[in-house]
Amino acid sequence: MKEIIVAPSVLSLDYAKTESQLAKVVASKTPWLHFDVMDGHFVEAITFGPNVMKGFKKATNLFMDVHIMVDQPVKVAKQMIDAGADMLTFHVESLDSEHEIHQLIASIKAQGCKAGITARPGTHIANILPYLASVDLVLVMSVEPGKGGQSFMPHALDKIKYFATYRKEHKLSYLIEVDGGINEETGKLCKEAGADVLVAGSYVFDGDIEERIASLR
Ligand code: DX5
Ligand code: ZN
Repeated sequence: MKEIIVAPSVLSLDYAKTESQLAKVVASKTPWLHFDVMDGHFVEAITFGPNVMKGFKKATNLFMDVHIMVDQPVKVAKQMIDAGADMLTFHVESLDSEHEIHQLIASIKAQGCKAGITARPGTHIANILPYLASVDLVLVMSVEPGKGGQSFMPHALDKIKYFATYRKEHKLSYLIEVDGGINEETGKLCKEAGADVLVAGSYVFDGDIEERIASLR
């Protein structure tokens, strides 16, 4: 089986132990780090923005995988890209029209960043299809966006399979990422379904970080 990318989610990091926990992530040799930007509007929680990510960027060479859950994705995408995001994934629900979504994808790429698209678990898959030929990544949400530590929704597996089949049939090359409730067991199911990237927050940071990352590979 192909090697999976694990993207530990900074949301579940213990900020009092940032330095030592980050060192363990780096030691695990996982290439990506996942940042959940929440604005208190699109989702209830407020997390962090560009300055915090800049700090992480100074401390490591990890690929900065940014997932924005915000009402103003155009503005926030630019701020995060200026701060060094390598992948910028936004929600289809956060813009009003297909035209605006296509424009934001194009603008993310024009700023030298990779572009990803995602949707809440209840949003129909048809709302994502128009963008699959333009994006570098599709993110399947396996929990309701907004907080860590929730249980994996098995319906996500059907979506992963759907996007994997669609990619093959249309000769596309986007990555399939899954986010929410990932542990050793659900991670394995996602891999089997065709996922390329596993985001994991509480599972990674509630245990031995290096062991947990290795167990997802
Ligand atoms: C949820 C976030 C996730 C979160 C996942 O809105 O998008 O990235 O960190 O946390 P776990 O792995 O604990 O479900
Ligand atoms: Zn996320």
